[in-house]
Amino acid sequence: MAREVTHEERGPVKLDESDMGDDGMIYVCQCGLSDSEPLCDGSHNATTDEVDGVVYKYANDDADGERRQIGEVADEGE
Ligand code: FES
Repeated sequence: MAREVTHEERGPVKLDESDMGDDGMIYVCQCGLSDSEPLCDGSHNATTDEVDGVVYKYANDDADGERRQIGEVADEGE
């Protein structure tokens, strides 16, 4: 599986101790759906039933938005 998300930022964000969770760890979003980017907010739970080989798009890049299949992941060499 894969998903298409829109990023508009043009630079980095600096994280500090205030970004740490109760366990002292900082969780960085890798799914692209967090409303608290770059931090994980649990939105990745919407992706758990995505199927390998399919590309998805969530309306407004929102985990609660309509999810559409927009393509397939190309095999290497294609
Ligand atoms: S990894 Fe994206 S919200 Fe958790």
